[in-house]
Amino acid sequence: MATIMLLLLFSTIFTAEAQQAGQPVIRPGSLLTPTGIGGTNTSWLSHSGLYAFGFYKQGNGYAVGIFIAGIPQKTVVWTANRDDPPLPADVKLNFTSDGRLILQSAQGNETRIASSTEVAVAASMLDSGNFVLNNSDNSPIWQSFNQPTDTFLPGQKLTTDQVLFSSRSATDHSTGIFRLIMQQDGWLAMYPVGTPFTLQYGYGGVGVDGEGPDVSLNFDTDGHLYLLNGIGIYIMNITSGSPTKGIIYRFTIDHDGISRHYSHNLDQNGDWKVTWSNPTDVCLQGGLCGINGFCVLNDQDASCKCLPGFKHVNEDNWALGCQKNFSSKSCESNEAVSGYTMEAEPNTIWENANYSMQISPTQEECGQACLRDCNCEAALYKDRECMKQRLPLRFGRRQQSDSTVALIKVGKSSLSTDPIVPKESNKEIRVDILIIGVLLIAFECIVLAVSGFVVYKYCVWANKNISNNEQVGLGEDVAPKSYTYAELEKVTDGFKEELGRGAFGIVYRGAIWNGEKIVAVKRLDKLLAEREREFQTEVKVIGRTHHKNLVRLLGYCHDGPNRLLVYDYMSNGSLADILFKPSKQRPSCDRRIEIARNIAKGIIYLHEECEPQIIHCDIKPHNILMDENGCAKLADFRLAKLLKPDQTKTYTDIRGTKGYVAPEWHRNLPVTIKVDVYSFGIMLLEIICCRRNTDFDLPEEEALLEEWAYHCFECGELGKLLNDEVVDKKQLEIMVKVALWCILDEPSLRPSMKKVLHLLEGTVDIPIPPSPTSFLTAL
Ligand SMILES: *[C@@H]1O[C@H](CO)[C@@H](O)[C@H](O)[C@H]1NC(C)=O
Ligand SMILES: *[C@@H]1O[C@H](CO)[C@@H](O)[C@H](O)[C@H]1NC(C)=O
Ligand SMILES: *[C@@H]1O[C@H](CO)[C@@H](O)[C@H](O)[C@H]1NC(C)=O
Ligand SMILES: *[C@@H]1O[C@H](CO)[C@@H](O)[C@H](O)[C@H]1NC(C)=O
Ligand SMILES: *[C@@H]1O[C@H](CO)[C@@H](O)[C@H](O)[C@H]1NC(C)=O
Ligand SMILES: *[C@@H]1O[C@H](CO)[C@@H](O)[C@H](O)[C@H]1NC(C)=O
Ligand SMILES: *[C@@H]1O[C@H](CO)[C@@H](O)[C@H](O)[C@H]1NC(C)=O
Repeated sequence: MATIMLLLLFSTIFTAEAQQAGQPVIRPGSLLTPTGIGGTNTSWLSHSGLYAFGFYKQGNGYAVGIFIAGIPQKTVVWTANRDDPPLPADVKLNFTSDGRLILQSAQGNETRIASSTEVAVAASMLDSGNFVLNNSDNSPIWQSFNQPTDTFLPGQKLTTDQVLFSSRSATDHSTGIFRLIMQQDGWLAMYPVGTPFTLQYGYGGVGVDGEGPDVSLNFDTDGHLYLLNGIGIYIMNITSGSPTKGIIYRFTIDHDGISRHYSHNLDQNGDWKVTWSNPTDVCLQGGLCGINGFCVLNDQDASCKCLPGFKHVNEDNWALGCQKNFSSKSCESNEAVSGYTMEAEPNTIWENANYSMQISPTQEECGQACLRDCNCEAALYKDRECMKQRLPLRFGRRQQSDSTVALIKVGKSSLSTDPIVPKESNKEIRVDILIIGVLLIAFECIVLAVSGFVVYKYCVWANKNISNNEQVGLGEDVAPKSYTYAELEKVTDGFKEELGRGAFGIVYRGAIWNGEKIVAVKRLDKLLAEREREFQTEVKVIGRTHHKNLVRLLGYCHDGPNRLLVYDYMSNGSLADILFKPSKQRPSCDRRIEIARNIAKGIIYLHEECEPQIIHCDIKPHNILMDENGCAKLADFRLAKLLKPDQTKTYTDIRGTKGYVAPEWHRNLPVTIKVDVYSFGIMLLEIICCRRNTDFDLPEEEALLEEWAYHCFECGELGKLLNDEVVDKKQLEIMVKVALWCILDEPSLRPSMKKVLHLLEGTVDIPIPPSPTSFLTAL
């Protein structure tokens, strides 16, 4: 017993000493540059020189991350802000004297690398591959091991719900299309990005049933990779350890969606050796072949084929998927049925995203059913079930043992020889959506750079406004004022004039500043715990914002059981009144675009200019109020969610209003600011059409606005959306296209609000939006 104690004691002293003596400490004031200009270093090395933190080449620029400097391959194991565009050569990585680790551009813009709010006084690149920042108490406040990208190193631990995302390619370390998650049920499994965590999409699972929810993936320095359960018992050894010295290991989810355990012998200048990989069937993960393509295995070699009638977008890059090699007929055309044939691709497995299912005794009947249905672009036929689909089909692979037949509606006239539709527009319509996605991302970067300036100006302008007001002496403090109940009783003249009521309480008219300013005073009824939280959120969120397109919170009352909120009075009611009251005249198309732009500006402010970021969570016409000049302002922040400084996504229970809620809430996926983009998209459709998103008084096909809008768009009959109200066709098309991009199921494909605003300006071409309900594999 004593010996063991002694041993333990020795080993602790020994390791502590080794660490202290060894690790070079980086102090505030240190600087790195991509090119080492001016005698600076380009990276900070670990003690042994094995690992380095700093700049490495990425695309046509640089990225910041951790790489293995001690081997010729300089393998990258971690990347900071991996989805940012490559950095120019004139950036600096500055560990500032006030303890922040930031990138500074030549223009002085700052991007955080390690976003900890605490002040760091020391940093160290450890020989384990972990980069650590310590505070003045010498305890770590940030470490790269806690923010894994696509690689897992010995010493790292992956706990429940933690995710690794593959890289886009072997050389491009931005987020790719596969992910690996340590699941609550104790299994380590992989999924394509953009799919729910359900059995249909998962692959390559490793684990033991019944061991969840606290199973972790662990990795020892000898290469031993294993799962431990919640009480630290080995439940599965994935690879065994090897006692040989001088070998380093990594475990990576590669860009092809396969996780691999690699080893590298430092003594021999060889390459990485794969010791274990999963799944061994390289077609199993689907997604590899892009949309409308499927994976075929020949002797372990995977190749990608296209659906009948389709061809590769790019012969050299199968991952981009396949596009139609025939022209489509509009639903109204008399060739809508006769212009097509059904072609079969047997023994293939696809994602079943059917919009309808019927029983068909034979494959031919299923094909005929699809042929006659203008919405049907393909059908999956298995065991007499005929499952109709829209394109694209995704996650395709050949599986000889599976009896599913994919039936594809193929146009009889080929693309190149079709005289009716000019080739150019065909290309535009049918260029693979993945490419559009890529273009959009590139485009977003440009827009960001351009609009950055505009927004900056706007923000300064808005702030100037505040100070001007103060100077003018209106007493308009930026922070909301705290009132007593008695004061507000006076302000509202004893709660005399009621302006409206809702589920939350009643709104009264009032006047402050000696009657000079009319206000709306909202009295929350029944002080439930939920109301209290909502009250706090509202005061916290809106109290710290100031923007032309947000309703101002002028004051609040938190007095005994009374909870009241004082707002600017909005004399023109809500957007819902304007849009949905049949008695009102519809606003003009210009006016509608202007309203949409103003709302977008308000949301951009919440998403991009507030620190921390704010997700509104309840964007809908009822929460948009119109001031006396008809300027739209976003109101009601009860359900808003504040993100922590370095958070981009969050898990919370579902918030919002039925009809406007983004699908990821229902799927239990983390939510991001893109949930607001979705709600905005639905609302934009309502603004365009001056109707509610669901209206069962209308004919069945028109009842759901988003489906109806896509249908009209697809058939090139946008006029139908407005019941033949005469509007500018171009403007209408812009608004519908933007809305359809906003309501895509896959959050990452939805544009940012900044881009939405830019698109609404109508100065750029907007790519054709894909069907809102079809899942897409984002590249
Ligand atoms: C660059 O790194 C070396 C060793 O890692 C160090 O001795 C030197 O001081 C560094 N140079 C600068 C300018 O920080
Ligand atoms: C690093 O950042 C600090 C704070 O922003 C700044 O004062 C300093 O000049 C920067 N160092 C260099 C070398 O640019
Ligand atoms: C950071 O803190 C850890 C734990 O207290 C300590 O072992 C390490 O030496 C510190 N590193 C630096 C660079 O101060
Ligand atoms: C896994 O390996 C560890 C250490 O090598 C061993 O103690 C344990 O029994 C193994 N567990 C299983 C489930 O194989
Ligand atoms: C596309 O269609 C044209 C005309 O029918 C045909 O010549 C060509 O081979 C097709 N391409 C592919 C890749 O199938
Ligand atoms: C789609 O197919 C599945 C499986 O056959 C079926 O259970 C489901 O009802 C179908 N969905 C629709 C919308 O028809
Ligand atoms: C950096 O800041 C300048 C103004 O200081 C601005 O014009 C520019 O757009 C910003 N760049 C980025 C990428 O945000």
